[in-house]
Amino acid sequence: MAKRIDVSGLSAYYSAHKAIDDISMTIEPGSVTAFIGPSGCGKSTFLRTLNRMHEVTPGGRVEGKVLLDDENLYGSGVDPVTVRRTVGMVFQRPNPFPTMSIYDNVAAGLKLNGIRKKGELDTIVERSLKGANLWNEVKDRLGKPGSGLSGGQQQRLCIARAIAVEPEVLLMDEPCSALDPISTLAIEDLIGELKERFTIVIVTHNMQQAARVSDRTAFFNLAAVGQPGKLIEIDETQRIFSNPSVQATEDYISGRFG
Ligand SMILES: Nc1ncnc2c1ncn2[C@@H]1O[C@H](COP(=O)(O)OP(=O)(O)OP(=O)(O)O)[C@@H](O)[C@H]1O
Ligand SMILES: [Mg+2]
Repeated sequence: MAKRIDVSGLSAYYSAHKAIDDISMTIEPGSVTAFIGPSGCGKSTFLRTLNRMHEVTPGGRVEGKVLLDDENLYGSGVDPVTVRRTVGMVFQRPNPFPTMSIYDNVAAGLKLNGIRKKGELDTIVERSLKGANLWNEVKDRLGKPGSGLSGGQQQRLCIARAIAVEPEVLLMDEPCSALDPISTLAIEDLIGELKERFTIVIVTHNMQQAARVSDRTAFFNLAAVGQPGKLIEIDETQRIFSNPSVQATEDYISGRFG
């Protein structure tokens, strides 16, 4: 089931450097939210605080709260490994496990979750590959290495791997930036289908993509180099692109900087 994300007063640091400052926002379940803003304003950092990946970086530290429905991901006693299973992530460069077959790439997380029966694994692998719109292209070569697929196919394989474990939220950091326009459209269509089941957050530098796929858009910015990134505004995507409340948002989307 898709879940609501409620962020309040969130700041993130790399050792002494504060990368993002005091971010609060609500992300509705079963919606797509796009994060936009100039390079270095902390979009990836913020995304990684939503599944406790930020603290994996040496010196990475987080202040504030992230509620998933009612549970604080940073509450005492919350296991970060469980959080990362609940909040899945797809990265900029497709990163299938290179030595594993297509099948095993999708099954690996399921096996970690204790699913061992071949029949059950087969069912979920097929469902996930279908969900990622990849099944027809790979069903006759499931035993072949995932690294032998095209870039766009590899990215859909990574999406299949992420959705196989039935996360409640799917975070995507520039998932199309290494892809050609056709593969990009395939991923965008897929995002539209997946949002029924997952709450989706996507970082993108492509304004058209943000406008095409997202329900709401958040604009982040830096006051100056070396300053932490801040959330400038978040609103309906249509409004952000037609009539934003803040001048800096308008300047950014109309290409006047960034
Ligand atoms: N591993 C790291 N160690 C130290 N500082 C980091 C690290 N990763 C990012 N930063 C710093 O944190 C700030 C935010 O970086 P981040 O990668 O989150 O920005 P971004 O908005 O995703 O940029 P881009 O659009 O280029 O991907 C930057 O000042 C960056 O230099
Ligand atoms: Mg980034």
